[in-house]
Amino acid sequence: MDTMAGMSRTCGCGEVDQQHMDQIITLAGWVQRRRDHGGLIFVDLRDRSGIVQLVMSPQYGEEAFRKAESVRNEYVLAVQGKVRSRSEDTINPKMKTGRVEVVVSELRILNRAKTPPFYVEDGIDVDENVRLKYRYIDLRRPEMQQHLIMRHKIAHAMREFLDDNGFLEIETPMLTKSTPEGARDYLVPSRVNPGKFYALPQSPQLFKQLLMVSGLERYFQIVRCFRDEDLRADRQPEFTQLDMELSFENQDFILDLMEHMMQQVFRSVLHVEIPIPFQRITWDDAMNLYGSDKPDLRFDMHFHDITGLLKDTGFKVFRSVIERGGVVKAITVKGDAAIPRRELDGLVEYAGRYGAKGMAWIGFLEDGGLKCQITKFLGEELVRKIGAFCEAEKGDLVLLIADQPKVVAQALGELRLEMGRRMNLIDENAFCFRWVVDFPMFEYSEDEKRYVAEHHPFTAPKEEDVQYLLSDPARVHANAYDMVLNGIEAGGGSLRIYQEELQEKVFQAIGISQEEARQKFGFLLDAFQYGAPPHAGIALGLDRLVMLMLRCSSIRDVIAFPKTQSAIDPLTQAPSSVAEKQLKELHIKLDLHKESDLFQ
Ligand code: AMO
Repeated sequence: MDTMAGMSRTCGCGEVDQQHMDQIITLAGWVQRRRDHGGLIFVDLRDRSGIVQLVMSPQYGEEAFRKAESVRNEYVLAVQGKVRSRSEDTINPKMKTGRVEVVVSELRILNRAKTPPFYVEDGIDVDENVRLKYRYIDLRRPEMQQHLIMRHKIAHAMREFLDDNGFLEIETPMLTKSTPEGARDYLVPSRVNPGKFYALPQSPQLFKQLLMVSGLERYFQIVRCFRDEDLRADRQPEFTQLDMELSFENQDFILDLMEHMMQQVFRSVLHVEIPIPFQRITWDDAMNLYGSDKPDLRFDMHFHDITGLLKDTGFKVFRSVIERGGVVKAITVKGDAAIPRRELDGLVEYAGRYGAKGMAWIGFLEDGGLKCQITKFLGEELVRKIGAFCEAEKGDLVLLIADQPKVVAQALGELRLEMGRRMNLIDENAFCFRWVVDFPMFEYSEDEKRYVAEHHPFTAPKEEDVQYLLSDPARVHANAYDMVLNGIEAGGGSLRIYQEELQEKVFQAIGISQEEARQKFGFLLDAFQYGAPPHAGIALGLDRLVMLMLRCSSIRDVIAFPKTQSAIDPLTQAPSSVAEKQLKELHIKLDLHKESDLFQ
């Protein structure tokens, strides 16, 4: 095998162009493809910068030609040769370097490679588990390299912006105590403290607040967070936040700062100009109009609350729902009145997946007629009234769901998104930012039969709602805000409580006793007694933002080494069993009752 001794690269493969014409250059990279034309061998050589065509022939270099005969895909080569123009008929306009080729005089084989399990090229159709098992090969594919390059640029642009605005990047511990983000913790046993566990941070929430008490004033960190929760396309057990906290500023300041940061990041990385300020929508409006606290407002189809129109109806299905505190809401789908019955049945089934027990429809046909299975129960007059209320015109379709408010929000919200996709209403090129503000402070947990913090218990309630903290917690709104991009929660934060009395009241409202609060967050409460400044912060999901900016469909595509949906890393096989000795050292005994426990 050869080495690179005495050779150094003059440029990247993808950078070779007219300016190198007739020069002798040195390149190194991987073999993308080899074509043998008898006395002439072509090799496409690839490195991070791109691909260039090499030509070998005995006439240009006897030894190089001989070596090239043995070269296979993904071999690692270093070459020296002269750049020349390709002949007219071999120009490849699709390649950046498609007008030139390198006539190789010296070729060194730096390493051989087994045949890779899949082609190193874009757009491959390969099972994701195989891609993840061989991630080091998957990451050679240009599109994956591009994702990581862009991720780096995005993080870099954020750092630059925050540095310019007086933020300090400060690291916080990974081996720590449970943090209050509401997911399950990943625990790490302590060998030197038998029976004790660290928790990996779900976020640096408490430490960043301590940094404010310490007077650091403006903190940020691009930081790994760990949450043991059910995984989805936009969730990973370990993910990265751009986490921030600042003192002495109000909500408007933070939202404005974030808008400027996003504008600068989009401008410098994507060369896209995003308009600011982002529109704000209250949580109540978002839920009432779109059934979601992260509405996708790339298209405007909103709910119409028709409960009032139906409260005196004789139609039992609607009346009984309303009598039990339910609501009837509808969406109007423009131009879809002629939807076939079989598709409507499909939509009923779709809404059913999100908990709706049924879905009704009214098609306002072009000829003035109605396509509606409930006219016989409601009467034509009421059906037309509903149409007018829902701003339906001839040709439009109205879809209705009657149920408890939570079910209607979810099922009709999902139906809205589905209709947006079906009717091609979503501009895939748009970046639609919104702030969702004024979240409720608490959420009632049916499981625990008590109110729990919607965000976390250090979130400050709206000043005018403090009076209801103990008497009517459901009524209290918080100074909390989420950044939503294209219907995905890209970030969230809040103003914090910094005064002891208010903090105690909030703990009381969610049924956390003083002892429990002390045991969980005692160090923070102590710190707050030594002069805590007013402070606030936000954390953006970096993986999600990069995914959205690059228009990927999963955050796994923008993370170098992600886990599968079942939190497994097919590359390292983590998580895995450990040696008995290690468990012993940690004073841990496994208690796996059934064989199946091993696979949970
Ligand atoms: P929050 O829990 O809303 O807030 O998290 C902030 C952002 O992190 C991203 N995110 C995730 N991304 C990928 N996988 C996950 N499992 C995951 N969970 C969350 C989301 C989310 O908006 N400490 C507070 C912030 C604060 O109050 O300052 C916090 O962590 O994009």
